[in-house]
Amino acid sequence: MAEFNKDSLGNVLFIAIAVCLVCSIVVSTAAVVLRPMQKENQELDQKQNILRAAGLLPVGATVDADGRTVDELFAEFEVRAVDLDTGEYVDIDVAEYDPVKAAKIPSESRDLSNNEDIATIGRRENVSLVYLRKEDGKLDKVVIPVRGYGLWGTLLGYLALDGDVETISGLGFYFHKETPGLGGEVDNPNWKALWPGVALYDDSGEPAVRLVKVRSPEGSSASRYEVDALSGATLTTRGVENLVRFWTGDLGFGPYLNNLRTTG
Ligand SMILES: Cc1cc2nc3c(=O)[nH]c(=O)nc-3n(C[C@H](O)[C@H](O)[C@H](O)COP(=O)(O)O)c2cc1C
Repeated sequence: MAEFNKDSLGNVLFIAIAVCLVCSIVVSTAAVVLRPMQKENQELDQKQNILRAAGLLPVGATVDADGRTVDELFAEFEVRAVDLDTGEYVDIDVAEYDPVKAAKIPSESRDLSNNEDIATIGRRENVSLVYLRKEDGKLDKVVIPVRGYGLWGTLLGYLALDGDVETISGLGFYFHKETPGLGGEVDNPNWKALWPGVALYDDSGEPAVRLVKVRSPEGSSASRYEVDALSGATLTTRGVENLVRFWTGDLGFGPYLNNLRTTG
C-alpha cells in the first residue's frame, strides 16, 4: 500500500487552502454578526455627542445628574431633515440619512466656490439634519451638525443653540486631527465652557462669532460674540470660527434658523 506523504505538494496546498477558507468564514461571519452592534454603538456615540453639545450630558458621563440614560435623554429630541437652500423641512428617512456622505454625492450636494467655502469643506449637502428639543411645548434646544477644516484635517461636531435660536448653548467635536495640547484643545472642557451664552448674530443678522486673543471690554456689543482663541493654535482657531460662521450663515442653516426664529 502507498504510504501517505504529509509533506507532498498536494497535501500542503490542501491544508493551506483549508486554513484560508476557515479563517475567511470566521472573519466574514464576525463582520456580519457584529455589524448591527457596531451600528448601534455608532448611533449611541452620536446621541452622546448631540446631548453633550446641548449641555444635557456631562463630559465623560453616560447618564445625566438625574440618572437618565442617553437613550432616555435623546428620546426628547425630534430629528428632522432640512433643505438647506430653502430652510424648509423635507420628508426623508432620517435614521438612514448621513449628511456627510451626501456631501460626497454630486446629485445630493453642491460645489462651493472659493469665496463661499469659508469652512473649506469643498461640497455642501443639499439636505441636512436638525435635532429639536421642546420643553413645555416651547423650543428649548436646536442642535445642528457642523464641520470645517482646521490645520490637519476636517473637524466634525455639533453646535447647539438655545430656544431663542440666536444664543449658543454649546459646541463639541467628535472627530478631528488637531494636535493634542494645541488645536486639540477644542476638546478641553474649560474652553468648551466658554461657548454657552455667546451670541450668534450681530444687529444686522450676520453671523458674528469671533475667536479672539484679546477680549473686548465686558458689556460692549462686540464682547457678546467673542470666545477665547486657542493659544498656539491660530489655524485651528480660525477653522472653528469659520465653520461656526459657515453653518449658521446663508449657505448653512441660516435660512432654516431664520424660519425657526420668525415662525417658531
Ligand atoms: C508639531 C506641531 C503641531 C501643531 N499643531 C497645531 C494645531 O493643531 N493647530 C494649530 O492651529 N497650530 C498648530 N501648530 C502651530 C502652527 O504651525 C502655527 O504655528 C500656529 O497655528 C500659529 O499659532 P499662534 O499664532 O497662536 O502661535 C503646530 C505646530 C507644530 C510644530
